[in-house]
Amino acid sequence: MRLYSEFADWFHLLTAPEDYAEEAARYVEVMRARTRRPLRRVLELGAGGGNNALFMKREFTLTLTDVSPQMLSQSRRINPECEHVVGDMRSLRLEREFDAVFVHDAIMYATREEELRATLETAALHCAPGGVVVAVPDYVLETYAPFAAHGGHDDAHADRGLRYLEWVWMPEPESGVARVEFVLTLREGEDVRVEHESQRFGVFPRATWIRFFGELGLEVHEERGVSWTPGPNGPEPDCQVVFAGVRPETP
Ligand SMILES: C[S@@+](CC[C@H](N)C(=O)[O-])C[C@H]1O[C@@H](n2cnc3c(N)ncnc32)[C@H](O)[C@@H]1O
Repeated sequence: MRLYSEFADWFHLLTAPEDYAEEAARYVEVMRARTRRPLRRVLELGAGGGNNALFMKREFTLTLTDVSPQMLSQSRRINPECEHVVGDMRSLRLEREFDAVFVHDAIMYATREEELRATLETAALHCAPGGVVVAVPDYVLETYAPFAAHGGHDDAHADRGLRYLEWVWMPEPESGVARVEFVLTLREGEDVRVEHESQRFGVFPRATWIRFFGELGLEVHEERGVSWTPGPNGPEPDCQVVFAGVRPETP
C-alpha cells in the first residue's frame, strides 16, 4: 500500500500521535483488567507509526512490528527506545513470549477469514500463559456503517501539510469486504498535489472473531472501546469492540 510506503513520511500528519492518549489508555485498561500475570513486555502487531505505542511505552516495554519498514522508521522517530522488528502479522514468529499482544487497526487489512485467523494465531503463539491478546478492529460486521471523514495537519517543523478524505463503503453489502478510498492532498510550500489510494478492509461478524479466539485456546471477552464521534456525514459506529483473549495458565 502506497499509504504505508511511498507516503509513510506523511503518516503523522494524517493521524497525529498526540491524539491517541485516550484510546491507548483504554486498551491498557482492558489489558490490566483481563491479564492474569504482571504486564511488563508487550508485543504489537501492525504497529504502524507507533501512535498508540507513544503512550503505552510509559507502562510497558514494547516490541513494535509491522510489515512496512517505512512505517517503522516513522515509529522509531517518536519511539526510539522501543524495539522495532519488520514482520507480517500473519506469519511473524519471534520465538519469544510476551505478557500481552496487541493488534489495533492493522487487523482491518486481514480481508479473508484465513488471514484473520493467521493473525490471531500469531498473537496467541506469542502470548505467555495467563497473558492476554487484545485486538481492536475498527468495526465488526454488526457495528459497520459506511462513512466519510476528513482531517489532517500541518507540519510544525517544515513548510508542508496534509489533508485527507477517508470514505469507507461496501460494494456488496454484508460481503464483509469494505473499500476505503483515501484521497490525500499533500502540500509542500505552495505546491499541492492530490493522490488517491483504494484499500480493502475485512469486516467480520462477532461470531467469527469469537470462534477463532476459541479455536486458538483463548478465553475471549468483549469489551467496549472508545466511542466514535459523529462524522461529518452522520453518525459513525457507536463504539469500538475490543476483543480480549486470555491464554489459560494451564492448557
Ligand atoms: C493505520 S496503520 C497502524 C497505525 C497504528 N495503529 C498506530 O498506532 O500508529 C496500519 C498498519 O498496518 C500495517 N499492516 C498492513 N498489513 C499488515 C500485515 N500483513 N502485517 C503487519 N502489518 C501490516 C501497515 O503497514 C500499517 O503500518
